[in-house]
Amino acid sequence: MSAPMTLGIDFGTSNTAAGIAVGDNPWLVEMEPGETTLPTAVFFEPKRPMRIGRAATRALINGDEGRFMRALKSLLGTPLLREERRINGESTDFVQIIARFLAEVKSRAESATHQTFTHALSGRPVHFHSADPARDAQAEIDLRDCYLAAGFSDVKFLFEPEAAVRSARPEPGLGLIVDIGGGTSDFTLFEQGTAGETRILASHGLRLGGTDFDRQISIEHVMPLLGRGSQIRNAFGKETLPAPNRLFNDLATWQMIQFLYAADSRRAARELAKYAVEPEKLNRLVEVLDDELGHDLAFAVERGKIQANGTDLADPRIDLRILERGLSTPLAAPQMQATLDPMMHQITQSAAETLARADLAPTRISRLVMVGGSSLLSSVETSLRGLCPNAAVENRNAMTAVADGLALAAPSAFA
Ligand SMILES: Nc1ncnc2c1ncn2[C@@H]1O[C@H](COP(=O)(O)OP(=O)(O)OP(=O)(O)O)[C@@H](O)[C@H]1O
Ligand SMILES: [Mg+2]
Repeated sequence: MSAPMTLGIDFGTSNTAAGIAVGDNPWLVEMEPGETTLPTAVFFEPKRPMRIGRAATRALINGDEGRFMRALKSLLGTPLLREERRINGESTDFVQIIARFLAEVKSRAESATHQTFTHALSGRPVHFHSADPARDAQAEIDLRDCYLAAGFSDVKFLFEPEAAVRSARPEPGLGLIVDIGGGTSDFTLFEQGTAGETRILASHGLRLGGTDFDRQISIEHVMPLLGRGSQIRNAFGKETLPAPNRLFNDLATWQMIQFLYAADSRRAARELAKYAVEPEKLNRLVEVLDDELGHDLAFAVERGKIQANGTDLADPRIDLRILERGLSTPLAAPQMQATLDPMMHQITQSAAETLARADLAPTRISRLVMVGGSSLLSSVETSLRGLCPNAAVENRNAMTAVADGLALAAPSAFA
């Protein structure tokens, strides 16, 4: 019996790609005109098929009537995933929403290849949840259910950094895949022999990625302008207390933004503004929730992060005109480094732990293969170079290495 038709899918927190092997080479599906990666974003609107990818982001920017969502992968393994809720008059849950996204990926791959894919080989982070083994195990069960609901009859999983090993250029010696994505940081230590044979020595990872960088930048640099840390008067007395953090924390967290548009959160924001010592700040919070500007704000923070990373501007700023004409806040590289430093430390620790599990000294690593959008942050590269001082750094194909590896491994996944 021939092997089932299997599509390799890198379902990422921020971006998704899919492909097949053509001979010995990966071939990625053109998901949108001229693009092999698709933003993992959906736009849910009344009585219309769900829009996904850049079309979803355009709908958000146009201010179309509907609900935009991003970073849905971060909900896998959490109780929020299976809670029934009404979105635009339709009763659904996030398993169904992710399934509709994956069904669309399947359908685009089938149109592009004139084949029918019954099976999927999906990437998964080494740990969806690094601090909670029960959630970590549940997340894979959840993702499997999403693939089955999307119309695949079976799915297998491969650790994302191990997929990236398969697409790495062969070179004898010890290498470390450093995959820093939107939601997780993943590491695989591998050894290649002179005949090109590859051995995986250890894989490890943690739930920390670019969306967490956005969150921390937002909490420290943007949320204070909306009243975070600002004093709220007691309704019955003279004393004041700092505003509670929950609304600000959720507003800074990509996968939580949509939940803030419920009536109770809007009411809580209005209450805070009513008793605020600085109402001009809390009124911005009220406006963001009432006008559903949370994702626009998160995009502004993400753009500010990418700009601060690669700019030679004298005074780089996060542009907040979405909140108020002319409003912005400074974010230069040193400020961003200070904000991200504790997380860089955790990432380096996790990389060091990967090497320790194979009992290997970091000085023996000869190549660092940087993968994932957040590996483009200069502080990530600096931290890893510091850990592995003798390694050459490679970052070709950072955005497609995982998908390429899944595409290459797909034909034999169910054979
Ligand atoms: N030039 C850049 N500098 C810093 N960060 C960047 C840059 N370009 C993209 N990013 C960040 O990279 C992240 C997306 O990376 P990627 O597409 O590899 O993630 P993913 O594969 O979807 O996520 P994961 O594998 O964690 O599920 C986003 O957080 C984005 O802001
Ligand atoms: Mg990824």
